[in-house]
Amino acid sequence: MSYNSFGHLFRVTTWGESHGPAIGCVVDGCPPRLALTEADIQPFLDKRRPGQSAFTTQRKEPDAVRILSGVFEGQTTGTPISLLIENTDQRSRDYGDIAQTYRPGHADLTYDLKYGIRDYRGGGRSSARETACRVAAGAIARRVLGESVRIRGALVQLGPHKIDRTRWDWAEVERNAFFCPDAQSVPVWEEYLAAIRKDGLSIGAVIELVAENVPAGLGAPIYGKLDSDLAAALMSINAVKGVEIGDGFASAALTGVENADPLRMDGSGHIAFGANHAGGILGGISSGQPIVARFAVKPTSSMLTPVPSVTRDGQEKDVITKGRHDPCVGIRAVPVGEAMMACVLADHLLRHRGQVG
Ligand SMILES: Cc1cc2nc3c(=O)[nH]c(=O)nc-3n(C[C@H](O)[C@H](O)[C@H](O)COP(=O)(O)O)c2cc1C
Repeated sequence: MSYNSFGHLFRVTTWGESHGPAIGCVVDGCPPRLALTEADIQPFLDKRRPGQSAFTTQRKEPDAVRILSGVFEGQTTGTPISLLIENTDQRSRDYGDIAQTYRPGHADLTYDLKYGIRDYRGGGRSSARETACRVAAGAIARRVLGESVRIRGALVQLGPHKIDRTRWDWAEVERNAFFCPDAQSVPVWEEYLAAIRKDGLSIGAVIELVAENVPAGLGAPIYGKLDSDLAAALMSINAVKGVEIGDGFASAALTGVENADPLRMDGSGHIAFGANHAGGILGGISSGQPIVARFAVKPTSSMLTPVPSVTRDGQEKDVITKGRHDPCVGIRAVPVGEAMMACVLADHLLRHRGQVG
């Protein structure tokens, strides 16, 4: 059984644990003769990297990526691309307590129930350290999609605090530690998250992803729908508990007239949409409109506040997780979501080419 791969033609397999010597991935099916160097991948890893602000974990990992195979003289060769990222700042002593006690909300219990063994150091395979590999694969996916396709993500809600969408500014996302598109929300979030951290608590978030200039025709009926693959990819990210495409759950409250994305001709022979409630996907196939998805990330389960739990041998015990944790893992999930969207779109682009030419 292999559960560590995703994608059909653009196929990504990740490997490694949080406190092992390294993590990595193999990207198979990437077309040949695409320009690719480590410098094309590193900026995306730097966006996800821990220890960059007071609001993320203080684990210091350089996350320097090495390309081991599949690239020759700066170009992809069509053979498997193998990427390696070393783990350099493990502190396994912090995890001694959770070797025997399950962290409520984390994967400790279910890994034990399923496998009867788990690498508890830093959460092992269930640690979001694995998402660095997804981000690296996503950088290659962006190469497959080409420069014209633009995939961006932003944090639109932190705990109870939503942004004001009328103030949305993509340039602002680059300027603050939250990937927040609303400058006025930043100080509110700073104060709120500082208090959450000080109290030894954690909080959830909502991330919005937008892919622009995606060609029409990606995705297929019935079991190859672009929206179902996108939802599965985003849902596979650690701590994600909900995914919406377009208006998502809010569309249930709309009438058909309100929800319709009206069609007209734009005067130069092209179809123009009057709205994008569908989030750029109709019948599982991209319409050429921006693809819009949102995902909800739950609060970090490892915290300094004690939570009732049990030990492996059935004793009741409160658990406190020492170690270095993000008070809101949703922040670093932004580049991870972008990467998963890029991988799904690259896979569907190649699948579309394979069937339709
Ligand atoms: C970027 C990122 C960082 C994370 N860091 C932590 C962390 O420091 N502590 C923690 O308990 N969970 C963290 N998580 C979430 C856990 O990995 C996740 O909750 C756990 O694997 C259980 O899986 P589930 O929440 O998807 O059911 C992080 C998630 C993401 C996306």
